[in-house]
Amino acid sequence: MSMTLSQVYRKAEALLKEKGVPDADVDSLCLLEHFFGADRTKLILHGDTAADEELCEKLFSAVHRRITGVPLQYIIGIWNFMGYDFIVGEGVLIPRDDTEIAAQEACEFAVSIECPKIIDLCSGSGAIAITVAKANVNSEVTALEYSENALKYLKKNIELNNADNVVPFAGDVTKCADSFNNGYFDLIVSNPPYIRSEQIDTLQRELQYEPRMALDGGKDGLFFYRIITELWYKKLKSGGKLVYEVGEDQCDDVCEILKRYGFDNISYRMDLHGYKRTVSGIMYY
Ligand SMILES: C[S@@+](CC[C@H](N)C(=O)[O-])C[C@H]1O[C@@H](n2cnc3c(N)ncnc32)[C@H](O)[C@@H]1O
Repeated sequence: MSMTLSQVYRKAEALLKEKGVPDADVDSLCLLEHFFGADRTKLILHGDTAADEELCEKLFSAVHRRITGVPLQYIIGIWNFMGYDFIVGEGVLIPRDDTEIAAQEACEFAVSIECPKIIDLCSGSGAIAITVAKANVNSEVTALEYSENALKYLKKNIELNNADNVVPFAGDVTKCADSFNNGYFDLIVSNPPYIRSEQIDTLQRELQYEPRMALDGGKDGLFFYRIITELWYKKLKSGGKLVYEVGEDQCDDVCEILKRYGFDNISYRMDLHGYKRTVSGIMYY
């Protein structure tokens, strides 16, 4: 006999919980929504509806992938960031809530200028680039990314979100600054890899599915902040802004780096957990 939607939900939750998957109830609900289009309200109102058997098989096969540690976002294949959907999968970093702080700061600056020229360095899925481009449709946003895999997602996400003002740029941030004229950009924004190399293998198993290249910030985690600031600060116009997302304990070090290259108005913003999550500064010549 086929199962009802409520039974599917409860069984998926129990299987996930039994294998120690955190937030098993949330994951079970997300999977139910993904495969059956049944959100919490539908589950409450129509939980006794018979669940299609083929979809059940798909859902329970997804539950088993989840149990092996595959991130929920990769299973679902799509994730929302600041109101926009992003296609994600192995090979690209899943956009994080933490990154909303940097994206928000970049959006605020972008809307304060009529036709800003913006570059998102280490763009990954394009989460920041696309959100900023949507905030000001008259902006011209370059989304720079080195990983071929990530670039495929970036291009799909530009299309998915009809972000015609975002131009993907395949390049190594440590090598291609000279492809752009000095004084060209109003805003440089970046969420670069910033985890200390030796820390990566100790991170939760879901993170082991994400590309190492998206995480590894070198021995002290600061490699990209140093090299990006050094190679890219001259690309800003006078009055242009640099915005970085930073790791939980990196704010002071990154502020120092910005100071060294002559940035003014250096400031940080906190995330919801109280961590200093962005560092920004203005370049005047
Ligand atoms: C922490 S992820 C951020 C992705 C995206 N901006 C976000 O906030 O979700 C860092 C990104 O930097 C890219 N990356 C790593 N090394 C790079 C390099 N040398 N040049 C350009 N991009 C690089 C990775 O492939 C990854 O997509």
